[in-house]
Amino acid sequence: MSLVEIDGVNSYYGQSHILRDVSMRVEEGEICALLGRNGAGKTTTLRSIAGARPPEVREGRITYKSRDITDIETEDISVLGISHVPEERRVFGNLTVEENLHLADVARNRSNTWGRDLAFEHEGLTIEQIFEDFPRLAERQKQLAGTLSGGEQQMLAIARALKQSTDLLMLDEPYEGLAPQIIETVENAIERIREEGTTVLLVEQNAVAAMKIADRCYVIDQGSVVFEGAAEELQDDQETRDRYLGV
Ligand SMILES: Nc1ncnc2c1ncn2[C@@H]1O[C@H](COP(=O)(O)OP(=O)(O)O)[C@@H](O)[C@H]1O
Ligand SMILES: [Mg+2]
Repeated sequence: MSLVEIDGVNSYYGQSHILRDVSMRVEEGEICALLGRNGAGKTTTLRSIAGARPPEVREGRITYKSRDITDIETEDISVLGISHVPEERRVFGNLTVEENLHLADVARNRSNTWGRDLAFEHEGLTIEQIFEDFPRLAERQKQLAGTLSGGEQQMLAIARALKQSTDLLMLDEPYEGLAPQIIETVENAIERIREEGTTVLLVEQNAVAAMKIADRCYVIDQGSVVFEGAAEELQDDQETRDRYLGV
């Protein structure tokens, strides 16, 4: 059984048909990368899984731990042990770095109709581990998040997701706009959380960086999956890389 199974999903923004029969699996314990050019449908796929609307999923089925979550409300996903760090990466600007990190605990303690029987097989990182991995956040822990640079706010949003007990972490372009050195920090943190047992679905336009840490990759183009395989296989598949990733 895969942790996430997406079967024949078709998603729409109003009349625009974006995802076309997308089928994917995310296996327990892996780092699965979803790659593709700008506008390919990566964010739409993540939002479809996370219950973020729009888009509207009109056909197909999404299961998590064998439970049908196709129509889940996005407020409920954290109760199931899913963390989604969206492209916007909202942090609370009027709270300190430390307070933002502690908010992770609030989300997981909510209860809802989905019950808690499936959630939290894996603990998140402790605040000490977070500060070890992200020394910049440690230096700024008492500072209001709104005063951080864009890159630091991005780190904080990712760190908050890592702190939450999470069985599935979904990251939308975590490397975007970050300096190479900070990308490396984020990569190390992703690998660390995976060592703790958390499964990672990594959406990236930076295919070269994502292939480096991924076990398996999907490539999406114009709303359809055009490649599925081991990361090494994609590394060696120059035709697919040229055609769909431009790298
Ligand atoms: N809110 C929206 N309304 C209408 N069309 C959208 C919306 N968001 C994205 N799209 C369209 O859906 C397609 C896929 O977008 P997206 O999933 O954001 O791509 P990616 O994340 O791979 O860059 C694009 O053609 C984009 O223009
Ligand atoms: Mg996107």
